[in-house]
Amino acid sequence: TTSANGSFGAEGPETETDSSGTGGMRKSLERKGSAPNDAVHLQRRVGLFSGVALIVGTMIGSGIFVSPSGLLVRTGSVGVSFIIWLACGLLSLLGALAYAELGTMNTSSGAEWAYFMDAFGPAPAFLFSWVSTLVLKPSQMAIICLSFAQYAVEAFVTECDPPTSVVKMVALLAIVMILFVNCYSVNLGMAVQNIFTAAKLVAVLIVICGGAWKLFQGNTQHLSNAFSGDTPTLGAVATAFYTGLWAYDGWNNLNYVTEEIKNPSKNLPRSIMIGIPLVTLCYALINISYLAAMSPTEMIDSEAVAVTFGNRILGALAWLMPLSVTVSTFGSANGTLFAAGRLCFAASREGHLMDILSYVHVRRLTPAPGLIFHSLIAAAMVLYGTIGSLIDFFSFTAWIFYGGAMLALIVMRFTKPNYPRPYKVPIIIPVVVLVISIYLVVAPIIDTPRIEYLYALLFILGGLIFYVPFVKLGMTPRFMNKVTLFFQLLLEVVPTSSMFE
Ligand code: ARG
Repeated sequence: TTSANGSFGAEGPETETDSSGTGGMRKSLERKGSAPNDAVHLQRRVGLFSGVALIVGTMIGSGIFVSPSGLLVRTGSVGVSFIIWLACGLLSLLGALAYAELGTMNTSSGAEWAYFMDAFGPAPAFLFSWVSTLVLKPSQMAIICLSFAQYAVEAFVTECDPPTSVVKMVALLAIVMILFVNCYSVNLGMAVQNIFTAAKLVAVLIVICGGAWKLFQGNTQHLSNAFSGDTPTLGAVATAFYTGLWAYDGWNNLNYVTEEIKNPSKNLPRSIMIGIPLVTLCYALINISYLAAMSPTEMIDSEAVAVTFGNRILGALAWLMPLSVTVSTFGSANGTLFAAGRLCFAASREGHLMDILSYVHVRRLTPAPGLIFHSLIAAAMVLYGTIGSLIDFFSFTAWIFYGGAMLALIVMRFTKPNYPRPYKVPIIIPVVVLVISIYLVVAPIIDTPRIEYLYALLFILGGLIFYVPFVKLGMTPRFMNKVTLFFQLLLEVVPTSSMFE
């Protein structure tokens, strides 16, 4: 098998004779073996510039075009919401710096999975891969596709809310298109990613320039008296953080490709220190731009802030705004599915999910089963969820694990004091992020208990029901062989060994 792509398939299907599909949970926890000729993977292609692009390109997606109104509702004043925007940027930066230590210390793929494995052992690592493949990655995908659809439909209906059913259909269509792109070829997926990232930066620039122009004309009235309004409760602040942190999510993305970074001990921390402040600056300026064009009340009422902004400022070019946002969200969704496929692939290869999910297409060399699996869950979330509820649910669950990674760092300072740490953060950083993540998870539960939070917790722990028999004891139900075989024939996929070394 020849490989023309960046991530999958330098090795042929013949490398493993497991193709009858043991269906079982192979416990191949060796992470460094094999593939001496797998030069594609060992190549370190990501330099400082691409590192920054990877972070910025993932972080800027739908959030900044959708969340500002939600944040205003939850905080009740322009000033508090602006502070929260900045605080989210700072928190992401601190979290990412701690991840830089983890990523340079343990340079294998799998990000959190690998760190949990080192610090806490296989059960918590399993719970992470369980939740991220079944919930976190698909809900990211669903949220971004819903935002995509919201903007795509908004462009055609003026002065009334777009019908929900149409938005959902368009979101499903987006999922199918992105699924197709990524099943078709890895190169195509990467090309889509690069083109769309560039377009997204143009969108950001348009908003900032438009706002600057308005301010220059003297439209500063909405920026004065920023703190008039009720003081929000602690729980409301935490959920406001959820909304803001969604826009910043993706700050840990470079940790998934540590093995491909040139000189990671320098470039990983540097990309973080350039990328995240850059995004924070963009977001702060965009927020000011919005307020230069509309009042806080208008912002809250607007279903799609960026479109309202375009209508006010761009005149005949107003159509540019929904177009650039759809382009930006489409790119983000593409990148999310790309990463999700990888994660699903890695987790199932480690024996943490069904074998079939780690198989790749015979000719296209794409991890089709994993991608299809994710898309199906994302589609269900699109049908049954709304952007707001999904974001809360996502952030709540995600921050449990981000906090867990901070704890892993702290624990390993004591249990593995002699591990090489080319980049070391002051211990206070993970401690602060850990405390904040505990607050972010606990405060909304205490303030406004919602059944969804309980579901999320039960779901995480429910993973243990699968972990004990299938992973720990290595049992395999008989019918799994048949299931695996069926899907192998249907999707034309075959097992392959360690592609992510
Ligand atoms: N921050 C992005 C947005 O505002 C979402 C990123 C999703 N996260 C990820 N790791 N792909 O839409």
